[in-house]
Amino acid sequence: MTDHIITEIKDRVLKITFNRADKKNALTHAMYAKVVEAMKAAEEDDGVRALLFTGAGEAFTAGNDLIDFRDNPPLAADSPVAQFLNCLLTAKKPIVMAVNGVGVGVGLTMLLHADIIYASENAVLTAPFVDLALVPEAGSSLLLPARVGHARAAEIVMLGRKVGAAEALEMGLVSRVFKADDLLPAAEKAALALAKKAPQSVRRTKELMRGDIAAVGDRMALEGKYFGEQLVSPELAEAVMAFMQKREPNFG
Ligand code: COA
Repeated sequence: MTDHIITEIKDRVLKITFNRADKKNALTHAMYAKVVEAMKAAEEDDGVRALLFTGAGEAFTAGNDLIDFRDNPPLAADSPVAQFLNCLLTAKKPIVMAVNGVGVGVGLTMLLHADIIYASENAVLTAPFVDLALVPEAGSSLLLPARVGHARAAEIVMLGRKVGAAEALEMGLVSRVFKADDLLPAAEKAALALAKKAPQSVRRTKELMRGDIAAVGDRMALEGKYFGEQLVSPELAEAVMAFMQKREPNFG
């Protein structure tokens, strides 16, 4: 079976690749569990000083695997996805994300927890939570309006409006934009540079810049409650059925 998450430690950088290109790197519970395992180990490992996330093929990630989530709703507070979000929230080591294509749902919201975010020119970010009869997660109901302003965040989250790389840069959702071939080398260079810097200084700077994560954690808990309730709702069932049948949902 193909390994849907590839982890590699090199030059004190843990690189995590979402590796399910045929499904646009949509994330299953098993994939989240493997990422969590790697992130937790990295926090304890003095040999890791920076993390780098990217996607295989042409997508960063299409977000939660809709069929896996519908069939096995992650309702437990310690579900793999909840643990992943908590790892992002509490990460002490710097995180670089190389957004090499489409980033949907958590493919956008995870960026709000990263430090350096590089995108390829063809990257497209979208968070169609309401289109899917879901609610925002990963603290994004708090972090996205704070980052881009409520009016722009509402278009992204409520209308599911797509944001291209240039606009994402202008909004402050990403740090820089690169030609596709230059993206990963640039992200690896940034991660390596972080890994070479004074580790305590980097960790403390990240802590200071992130500010009060308790408030984000509280919001994540409320989002998680609503997200779980939506996952088992009839409107979610209709949204997923419509996705599978490649048609518009009908919410009556
Ligand atoms: N969950 C499950 N399967 C997914 C998926 C997801 N989130 N995203 C894509 N896939 C699957 C598609 O069903 C398709 O499978 P198939 O080849 O068996 O039909 C395959 O991945 C390729 O996707 P496709 O839609 O053909 O690619 P595209 O380039 O035209 O579009 C996306 C890519 C990501 C824009 C589109 O697939 C999409 O909108 N996916 C849903 C994203 C989403 O809503 N995520 C949840 C957020 S909470």
